[in-house]
Amino acid sequence: MKSVVTNSPEDTTALGETWAQEAVPGWTIALCGDLGAGKTQLVKGLARGLGVTGRIASPTFALVNEYTEGRVPLFHLDLYRLETRAQIVGAALDEYFFTPRGVTVVEWADRWWDEVLNSKFNVERPGGRLRWVRFTSEGEKRRRIEHEDFGA
Ligand SMILES: Nc1ncnc2c1ncn2[C@@H]1O[C@H](COP(=O)(O)OP(=O)(O)OP(=O)(O)O)[C@@H](O)[C@H]1O
Ligand SMILES: [Mg+2]
Repeated sequence: MKSVVTNSPEDTTALGETWAQEAVPGWTIALCGDLGAGKTQLVKGLARGLGVTGRIASPTFALVNEYTEGRVPLFHLDLYRLETRAQIVGAALDEYFFTPRGVTVVEWADRWWDEVLNSKFNVERPGGRLRWVRFTSEGEKRRRIEHEDFGA
């Protein structure tokens, strides 16, 4: 488990930009943390690092936004409004997890994956790679970002 502290939205975006250098198809980045914790800020950096130029907004209502103009296609999911696995499957969003078509980043990932990570990922991670990320607000501008990698 790695732990990073950021002290501004720009710091968090810069972290996402760094992570974009590692992006390969089949990679899923699972974000959890409260409202306003900085999940979308990180996605903005990922998108920028991949070369996406359009505006990035949380797909809270659209559920998924696809950005295809970057080095690797980016799928941005937000599960906030979906409370059960059945609803996520019903919206066909599980098809984006570990898709060989691109990189998937998921806000409110704990709507799908619970904390029992290892056992679940062995079943549900066919060949893919996962970064589990937890955001914690520690002040107006201070965010702790803990992350851990699973899979190849
Ligand atoms: N260090 C920081 N990192 C990220 N955002 C920060 C930081 N400090 C302050 N902020 C502010 O916190 C807010 C983070 O909003 P953001 O939309 O990224 O949250 P979110 O986790 O995606 O929330 P939601 O669950 O509502 O989608 C922004 O208003 C941003 O300016
Ligand atoms: Mg968001």
